[in-house]
Amino acid sequence: MVSLVIPRLSGDIFGLLSNSLIMQDAEFQYLSQLAFQKSGIVINGSKRDMLYGRVMKRIRHLRLSGFSAYCELLQDSYTGELSEFINAITTNLTAFFREEYHFDFLQKVALPEFKSNNTDKKLRIWSAGCSTGQEPYSIAMSIESQLPHWDAKILATDLDSDVLCRAQHGIYADLVGIPIAYRTQYCSDMNTHHQYVMDEKVKQLISFKQLNLLEPWPMTGLFDVIFCRNVLIYFNDETKKKLVQRFYSLLKPGGYLFIGHSESLQSYNTHFSLVGQTIYQR
Ligand SMILES: C[S@@+](CC[C@H](N)C(=O)[O-])C[C@H]1O[C@@H](n2cnc3c(N)ncnc32)[C@H](O)[C@@H]1O
Repeated sequence: MVSLVIPRLSGDIFGLLSNSLIMQDAEFQYLSQLAFQKSGIVINGSKRDMLYGRVMKRIRHLRLSGFSAYCELLQDSYTGELSEFINAITTNLTAFFREEYHFDFLQKVALPEFKSNNTDKKLRIWSAGCSTGQEPYSIAMSIESQLPHWDAKILATDLDSDVLCRAQHGIYADLVGIPIAYRTQYCSDMNTHHQYVMDEKVKQLISFKQLNLLEPWPMTGLFDVIFCRNVLIYFNDETKKKLVQRFYSLLKPGGYLFIGHSESLQSYNTHFSLVGQTIYQR
């Protein structure tokens, strides 16, 4: 349980107004500990401005007097603000076919391998930390074009309920990163404000679910591939190590784990073999 000692605001009405827009150290401590406890995301002093900006947006939206009032609101479990706070502190940057070499490997090495080995024509992929969906849709387009009629399923999960909702709709303002051939085949112009919608053929391959990676995972079957890219960077070493071990036990022997370009498993002493740029094999 994160506890908070809320500092008393002092001064006249002008002092009060200016004080309330300052995030006191105790409030920063409370908010960063809460973020860590609920999501594993580490917010240290160097990210104080980021936290300030994101929480300030909530404060304005809720028309609160300042950080002290916001921290009090978070302590009231009936308001539902905790999930809004978590949504506010996640970083959701993503793109179609981000880190293209992963998709080259998927298309040129992994999928042909599954084509020869998976005689049941079954493929299970997990996009863990899928954000607004560009990652699972990129995987889905790759699979649909190469292994049509397979029993392929992509589980796409994230902690942030807002991004998941957007991902589920599959509507995007731009298609940057999607190869032209895939755009023609899998994306339709909605003829309104330059919005594009993903085709049902790829949508139906994906199940979007809210899942906190820190909590127990309900999945029982094993995966051929797990993508967990640009998520581990927000965690501390202990959390990263535990997650990597859990990914290992959920992969089929020979299955692949893709992590982000700035991430590495080097210091975690795992049983994975490095087989490509931030691509590991069980
Ligand atoms: C930077 S995005 C990465 C998106 C995508 N994987 C990519 O590489 O383009 C990181 C995502 O991890 C999610 N995330 C952060 N902490 C999480 C947690 N504890 N459980 C599940 N998802 C989490 C965030 O909500 C965010 O959408």
